[in-house]
Amino acid sequence: MTTNPVTATITKKTFGKMSDGREVFQYTLSNKNNISVGVINYGGIITSIVVPDRNGKFEDIALGFDTLEDYKAYSPYFGAIIGRYGNRIGNGRFTIDGTEYHVAQNNNGQHLHGGLKGFDKVYWTIEPFDSDEGAALKLTYLSPDGEEGYPGNLSVEVIYLLTDGNEFKILISATTDKKTIVNLTTHSYFNLLGNAKRDILDHQIQLFADQFVPVSSTLIPTGKLESVGNTPFDFRTPHTIGEGIDSTHEQVQLGLGYDHTWVTGDVGVKKKIAVAYEPTTGRELTVYSTEPGVQFYTGNFLNGAKGKNGVVYPKRYGFCLEPQHFPDSPNKADFPTVILKPGERFHTETVYKFSTR
Ligand code: GLA
Repeated sequence: MTTNPVTATITKKTFGKMSDGREVFQYTLSNKNNISVGVINYGGIITSIVVPDRNGKFEDIALGFDTLEDYKAYSPYFGAIIGRYGNRIGNGRFTIDGTEYHVAQNNNGQHLHGGLKGFDKVYWTIEPFDSDEGAALKLTYLSPDGEEGYPGNLSVEVIYLLTDGNEFKILISATTDKKTIVNLTTHSYFNLLGNAKRDILDHQIQLFADQFVPVSSTLIPTGKLESVGNTPFDFRTPHTIGEGIDSTHEQVQLGLGYDHTWVTGDVGVKKKIAVAYEPTTGRELTVYSTEPGVQFYTGNFLNGAKGKNGVVYPKRYGFCLEPQHFPDSPNKADFPTVILKPGERFHTETVYKFSTR
């Protein structure tokens, strides 16, 4: 157990073994308000987020599994670090300086979330990280040149930090020795009711975005940005998720619900991008990020997997707010660039802030 200058603690226990015998631990970060976050070496997965409701009742608001075997067998990226490229790349192809690269077409002919063995399935080295802001872990992974078809040795570092101000900060940085692409993100599924008691349709969502990224039937962007005005994508003021999720709007139909990127603003500028609120428990999640977009995904592909404590997760029992660059950016010259060059450092920061009202 490590205790740092704040009142934060970090505990560590065995969670399982990789097939090569490496031990997977579960680290639990807690703050002075007894909020806690669990993290494992496999996929850098956030396994639990335990926060109070407005009456002080602590429950887990993150979807996940009790065992490493379940994560390996059927996790739909629950809580994982996603890379090298979060979201989709059209036809699994992109070109850098005239060289065409091919990456796995693991999703309906498209590349999704880093390929067959993305960062959600690799072993992350974890060590407690010295921070006077709260309990923190440093996770590192060196992705070798050519892994999953991507160029360059990519050295990735993720800091998970839980502050006494009830903020969970995720700082991701990366460097490369060859020009490459990166779109690193985080993939927690939230259900603010706690222990995923029901679907998320009565949650209220606010997204600070005037535009979204329309997609084709393969969920690859058309390349244009569209105004959210007068569409079910307008969350500039809070709306329940259920209100527009079964709309006949073509984009909602293509996404089988919400599975789109909203345009949040300038790259590298930390801003409030989303608020989610669950009225019966009073739990609220506010998201800040330096990313130009956020993928709001409403668990449309969840299919009833048996999760933590025997809780089952059918369709729409969790939602994700994944701050990231736009899908298929490597093939869309007008989208903010995802190129990382030697000598540069990719950096992204996301904050999930927990409160009640
Ligand atoms: C992302 C994608 C979804 C889906 C999930 C994982 O959020 O946008 O389409 O693939 O990941 O199931």
